Amino acid sequence: MFDAYGTLFDTQSVETTVEEAFPGWGSVISHIWRMKQLEYSWLSTLMDRYEDFWSITQRSLDYTLRSLELACDRQTLEGVAAAYLDLKHFEDAPVCLDALAPYRRAILSNGSSAMLASLAERSKLVRSLDHIISVDMNGAYKPSPRAYMLVGDVLKLPPERVAFVSSNGFDICGAKSFGFTVIRVARSPSGPSFVQAEKPQMDERRLFALMRGQLETFDYPPDFTVQSLAEIPDLFERKVR
Ligand code: LAC
Repeated sequence: MFDAYGTLFDTQSVETTVEEAFPGWGSVISHIWRMKQLEYSWLSTLMDRYEDFWSITQRSLDYTLRSLELACDRQTLEGVAAAYLDLKHFEDAPVCLDALAPYRRAILSNGSSAMLASLAERSKLVRSLDHIISVDMNGAYKPSPRAYMLVGDVLKLPPERVAFVSSNGFDICGAKSFGFTVIRVARSPSGPSFVQAEKPQMDERRLFALMRGQLETFDYPPDFTVQSLAEIPDLFERKVR
């Protein structure tokens, strides 16, 4: 069971589209946008006012542009937001999914069904997936147990029989707390060399990696950590099964 955004698909690949619409701002906007998008998913779940991820994606882009006082009409906003429908997959994604072919391979994601269908088709990963599950079906975002519960409903398996793969700290924590066997893909750099410890350097890319790409300090660590999805088929044969 794979998370989508940040795990199979690179959310930073929106940067090119953002840069075209707002020259010079591509990196700043796309990082704040992704941070805010997740915050809004948690906000809407905690308030019990679920809106689907397409709405959350547009609201968080709107927030980002307003905070930077960058003018944008509705049509441009929707055009830029549509970059989330055509994200690049990470290079290790097809390799991993294809090698796992004897097993059922699926996505559980915050994305709406329409967003996920678009991503899976445009990236062609659809051919290597048996199920695409959107949290939309239960109207609650990860890390709510109501989101993870959908996996059992669809696959008819107890949580510990599911290997759940994510690069997102909050998702790893939530999935382990729910009871899945969790594999972390460590996509974000960290540590002294990353921030150049002698004279710490901070920019939106580093801040994002430090805020969202690390392990959370709650007591629900992943069972396994890999550097690339390509390591998973072998790990799966040796340890997970
Ligand atoms: C997802 C978010 C968590 O794909 O990245 O569900």
